[in-house]
Amino acid sequence: MEPLLRAEQITKVYGTRGKMTYTALQDIHLQVEAGEFVGIMGPSGSGKTTLLNLLATIDKPTSGHIFINGTNPYKLNNRKIAKFRRHELGFVFQDFNLIDTLTIKENIILPLALDRLPIKEIEARLESTVKWLGIDHILDRRPYEISGGQKQRTAIARAVIHQPSLLLADELTGNLDSKAAKDVMKALQDLNENLHRTILIVTHDPFAASFCKRILFIKDGKLFTEIRRGTNRQTFFQQILDTLSLLGGNFDDIPTARFQ
Ligand SMILES: Nc1ncnc2c1ncn2[C@@H]1O[C@H](COP(=O)(O)OP(=O)(O)OP(=O)(O)O)[C@@H](O)[C@H]1O
Ligand SMILES: [Mg+2]
Repeated sequence: MEPLLRAEQITKVYGTRGKMTYTALQDIHLQVEAGEFVGIMGPSGSGKTTLLNLLATIDKPTSGHIFINGTNPYKLNNRKIAKFRRHELGFVFQDFNLIDTLTIKENIILPLALDRLPIKEIEARLESTVKWLGIDHILDRRPYEISGGQKQRTAIARAVIHQPSLLLADELTGNLDSKAAKDVMKALQDLNENLHRTILIVTHDPFAASFCKRILFIKDGKLFTEIRRGTNRQTFFQQILDTLSLLGGNFDDIPTARFQ
């Protein structure tokens, strides 16, 4: 069966028009099956965001092919790619990207309003989504009136309310304290385990990564290794730390002590 996401021989070279070029990704192959929860880790500058942006159709690979549900988004015209993105993909970013002039409710239902869904359907989806994320009591507030963790759970609600095939997130716990990070990762775990959503996140935080079921490590733009989680998250967390130390690179900024 065709995997949900298939990337073949992906290469990304920045600055091809100037004299200085930089190969950020080289010969990346990866597959994600429906129902997986995958993390991508690697040192700063290893190409994680670059890879995620290519998979998210935000940026084009220099060479190679990407298929999402059997479609190569880079072969679509502009109108079709906008629709494809809206239907197949959900995004969550480190800095939340909420619109300050809109309420939490308006922020969340924005993608559905763009698709002109009936109000009843919108309300039903909103209710079930905000309930499991624990943000049903803040719907009338604006982003500057809620906490960082609540902002990120709002962003997750917005990213999943149109039921995309694949949820993508880049450093989604990067601006959160450890308690809020845990709540957000638990929400993603719940989304994966109980609502069978397929999730791919980029993170340099081993604690956040320990909620994933499989982790791909990249180094200098190439796939280095991958590890799979058994049943125990604590054991997986230790395995992640061990792999990161094998990987080398700059992980000095990770306050691992707080996760003991
Ligand atoms: N638009 C760009 N033009 C030129 N080089 C770029 C561009 N974007 C990223 N790079 C370079 O490509 C490499 C990979 O960057 P990328 O942002 O993918 O790293 P990362 O793994 O996400 O790092 P971090 O953990 O710091 O977020 C880096 O050396 C970076 O400087
Ligand atoms: Mg990055």
